[in-house]
Order: sequence, then structure tokens, then C-alpha cells
Amino acid sequence: MKLSKLVGRAGTETAFEMLAKAKDLERQGKNVVHFEIGEPDFNTPENIKNTGIKAIHDNFTHYSPTQGILDLRETVAKYISKTRKIDVSPDEVIATPGGKEVIFGTMLALLDEGDEAIYPNPGYPIYESAIKLAGATAVPMPLLEENDFAFDREQFVKLITPKTKLIVINSPGNPTSGIFSLDDLKFIAEIAKKNGIYILSDEIYSRIIYDGTFYSIASLPGMKELTIILDGFSKTYAMTGWRLGYAVANKDIIEGLKKIAVNSFSCVATFVQMAGAEALNGPQEDPELMRKEYEARRNLIVNELNKIPGISVKMPKGAFYVFANIKKTGKTSKEIADYLLYDAGVCTLAGTAFGSYGEGYIRFSYATSQENIREGLRRVKDAFEKLMK
Ligand SMILES: Cc1ncc(COP(=O)(O)O)c(C=O)c1O
Repeated sequence: MKLSKLVGRAGTETAFEMLAKAKDLERQGKNVVHFEIGEPDFNTPENIKNTGIKAIHDNFTHYSPTQGILDLRETVAKYISKTRKIDVSPDEVIATPGGKEVIFGTMLALLDEGDEAIYPNPGYPIYESAIKLAGATAVPMPLLEENDFAFDREQFVKLITPKTKLIVINSPGNPTSGIFSLDDLKFIAEIAKKNGIYILSDEIYSRIIYDGTFYSIASLPGMKELTIILDGFSKTYAMTGWRLGYAVANKDIIEGLKKIAVNSFSCVATFVQMAGAEALNGPQEDPELMRKEYEARRNLIVNELNKIPGISVKMPKGAFYVFANIKKTGKTSKEIADYLLYDAGVCTLAGTAFGSYGEGYIRFSYATSQENIREGLRRVKDAFEKLMK
């Protein structure tokens, strides 16, 4: 069987592979503490679930327009206008099955063979994969711990060429949990404007922040036209399985995204879109309670990890990940992730799952209970004490 060259260029999301390995062990009767998947362990808030259920009973079970129902697009336009302090109209919004689709759609809609796209490394693996799927050249932007996982301006400038068509930024970022400062965003914006480079701004964790302030690059003067904002419902409202996200961009880019949409998924489930509108319009106590609980878990996991010999961790500013430095062990990220899974019953992800600059790190997702965090870290501590003897 010979699959297409296009599929040959595609990467993957290792979290799903590690989850499968861990499930295999569990089927054999082993107990595993899960830190691999970036998925809220909370349930979707009741008001959102009830709106979805009612919409099904009311027969909102037919196709919707490809771009999404007007009610959701108006709601998103209002929300983004308010939170990013820019004027967004419903024509500048498209609903997608998850935020991930915005990455895929943007790459296919904007990039040609020969174009270059800069992406964060370590970063969410789908950026690099989707750039390559589109046939363009993926150019890594290293995010290093010594710079607090922010980008290095001098290095960054060297990456820009006449072929650069797109820059991907992700703040707060997965897996490093770094936040781009306003100054850094201004620096990127000036380069983007000068060279007519588009920005894919992945803002999926914009509501999960503990320290510092979230800024969108789209809010800076002249940047709305050049920016594709990616946001969605999976993380903020614990709606991963509903598959709902959106892009906000200029009308030409939205037309491009619509073309990709009509050729692939047609539209997002209509009742899911109605639940999404309720998520943004309804009470906001639940997402805030979740954020507070993530913050308590962050403090717990960082504190405990830093007590373990061979591990060091910087305090993450947002999202729900810890990118732990394991360089003192002298082992590779993959060796440590496998050792923890098979010897200690703790599932994490090798830093290299997020690109070559992730070597020397493992990622813990703390979207799991404090009880699981305590048990998992007890096991990690025992395993590392043996390793570092
Ligand atoms: C940085 C980043 N962008 C996008 C996504 C995709 O989210 P969704 O579930 O809405 O497709 C994720 C999910 O893990 C993510 O971490």
C-alpha cells in the first residue's frame, strides 16, 4: 500500500500515541497516572450542556451555513471585539470543528510550495505538520528556557526572508506555558507590517492565565488585517469533545478558510454551535472556578517537582502544562518518558514531541486532580531517586 506524498509529510500528536500505550498497560492491570493529554478533567458546565440538548430536541440537527450560524458568529464577533479591543464583524468569523482546524485551514489557504512559515519550537506539533502538509517550508523559532521560553529577537530577525509568508505565535504557549510580552508582540508586529507577513495567533489558552497579562497581536495598530486569531471552547469551557473553535480574520482569508471548510467538513454540528454561543453569552463563573483550580494545581506540581533531584521547573504563567528540565539525568526526553511510563506508571510526554528544541524536557499536563498530582509525583520522585543514585 503506497499512501500519498502529502500524508508522508504529515507529523502527529504524540499525546494520543502515549495515551494508547498507557491504556495498553492499564488493560494488563497496571495502574497509570496520566499527565499526557492536554484536556480539562472538568465536565462541560450545565448551562452549555442543556443548551446543546435542547437544540437537539428542537431539531437543530441539520446542516448550517459553512461559515457557521449567525448567532454564534455575532457572539464571537462581540466577544473578540471586547476582549481584543478591535472592531470585528460576524463576516470576519468562521466556526470550525475545534481550534486545530484553524491551523490546518490557515496553512492550506495561505501557503504555497516555496513559501516559508515560522513556527514556535518547542510548540504544538500540528503547526509544523500542517505547514509541511501544505507543501511549504517549516522554519523553527526556538523558544529557550534561558529566555524564559520567550523568543530571542536577534535569532528571530535572522529567520525572516523574502519567502516568509506566515509567523505562528502561541501565547500562553503549549508546551512551555510562556506568555509573549507586549514589547515582544510589538517587535513582531513591526516586522510583519514592514514585510507583509501574516500572523496566525493561537490564543486558545488566553483565558487560562495566572501571572502577567494576555495581549493579542491583533490589538496592535495595523495588525487586525494581518492576523488570523485562533480561539475556541475546548480549554476554557472544558468542551474538547464537542469540537468547536473559530477563526477571526479579514474577509479574504475567511473566504479561503470557507473553501477549505466546504471541501472537508461542510459545517460544524448546528446544535454544537448553539451550545458555543451559550458558553460565551452565559454565566462565566465555571471557567473562572476551573482557572482557579488550575492555579492551585500549578503551585502544587511546581513546588513538588522542584524538590525532586534531577528535575527543575520554572513557574508557568498560563495554560496547564509544566515543561520540566531533565538535563541533569543525562538521558534523552524519550528515555525518561518511557522510563516513567514503564517503571513508575506515570505517563508524560517527551519534550521532543514538540520539536527538536524540546530535547532535555518532559511535559506534564496538570489538567488532573490534586490527588492524582500528589500520587504521580510520589512515583516520579521514587523513580528519579533511583535514577540519580
Ligand atoms: C496550542 C494549541 N492550539 C490548538 C489546540 C487545539 O484545540 P482544539 O481541541 O480546540 O482543536 C490545542 C490543543 O491541545 C493546543 O494546545
